[in-house]
Amino acid sequence: MSEEWVRSTLRDVSLYYNPKVSAFRMDNNANLLGPNPVAREVLKEFANMDVNFYPTTYSDPLRTALGEYYGLEMENIVAGNGSDEVLDVCFKALLQCGETVVTPYPTYALHSFFVKVNAGNIVQVDLDKRFQLDSDEINKTDGKIVLLCTPNNPTANAFRMKDVKEIIEGRNRPVIVDEAYGEFVKDSFIPLVNDYDNLIVTRTFSKAFGLAGMRVGYAVSNKKLAHILLRAKTPLSLNLLSEMTAIAALKNTGFVKRTIQMVDRQRGPLSKGLESLGFEVFRSDANFILVRSPIPSDELVTKLVNKGILIRDFGKLRMMENCVRITIGTAKMNAFLLTLLREVFGECR
Ligand SMILES: Cc1ncc(COP(=O)(O)O)c(C=O)c1O
Repeated sequence: MSEEWVRSTLRDVSLYYNPKVSAFRMDNNANLLGPNPVAREVLKEFANMDVNFYPTTYSDPLRTALGEYYGLEMENIVAGNGSDEVLDVCFKALLQCGETVVTPYPTYALHSFFVKVNAGNIVQVDLDKRFQLDSDEINKTDGKIVLLCTPNNPTANAFRMKDVKEIIEGRNRPVIVDEAYGEFVKDSFIPLVNDYDNLIVTRTFSKAFGLAGMRVGYAVSNKKLAHILLRAKTPLSLNLLSEMTAIAALKNTGFVKRTIQMVDRQRGPLSKGLESLGFEVFRSDANFILVRSPIPSDELVTKLVNKGILIRDFGKLRMMENCVRITIGTAKMNAFLLTLLREVFGECR
């Protein structure tokens, strides 16, 4: 077995973050209010389903429900096994072998992964000191596709709508706007999908909807572009139980509202608590916060995980020296986190 057999764009790709710890996870931006209660109801109903049959090829019931939810049509929607699958599909459909995708830096690590597994190359354009976009610099690049997420992961800030618009309008090329954390902000590009022939917006049920374990995400675009994406998608990739749960969650959004409220209420006190411990806190518009640790971030994360909470270390990355990312939890969880952090700093003195 030779490394030369491996697709050249994949040779510097290693396995993705896969921590083997039993600690409480405040590292992956899942919904810390708990599981969406619709899941329990759907499970009861599911017991009587004829699971010997396949679901529809392209998850039409979910696409119809999403169409209604956004005042669009099902032909505007591509549903998939997490928004990760949908991002992968974008490159399967639109990227030729060896072509380049432009992304801001720093951003979601799997963005460049999906480009590379689809035989593409990445060009990164640095965000500024406040982690905002430089739309002029992005528009100067020649890549075939632009991919960005807002609010951005791991920095947590939303980009200015005007900057993203300048990128969509700047050049004749597809622009993918990953809105995995879109429910936590007011602005969205979904209402604009029919205004642009080059705009794809992706979203997920994994964050505000509290269904990360069900793996459901979707893309929204004009119908022509959605049809192109659908042609590249693995038929039947979304299982029936996940599809039914996502539909139920769209019909009962009380939990999503409570989640957004919890995050909005807890962000301030958690940020203040972290600041008082000596962290530099960056602006957050999502259900997580990026902070710079006053002690080496790897040491901090190891000591904290030994006490029972896992947060995510980004401290070895350029522009992110000693930064860690923390998912915003309930008041109780955040208070416990701050207590453990205080203990860690106490031991470091
Ligand atoms: C920016 C961003 N996009 C996409 C995803 C993937 O979401 P999903 O669970 O729908 O695959 C994540 C998950 O953390 C994310 O942070």
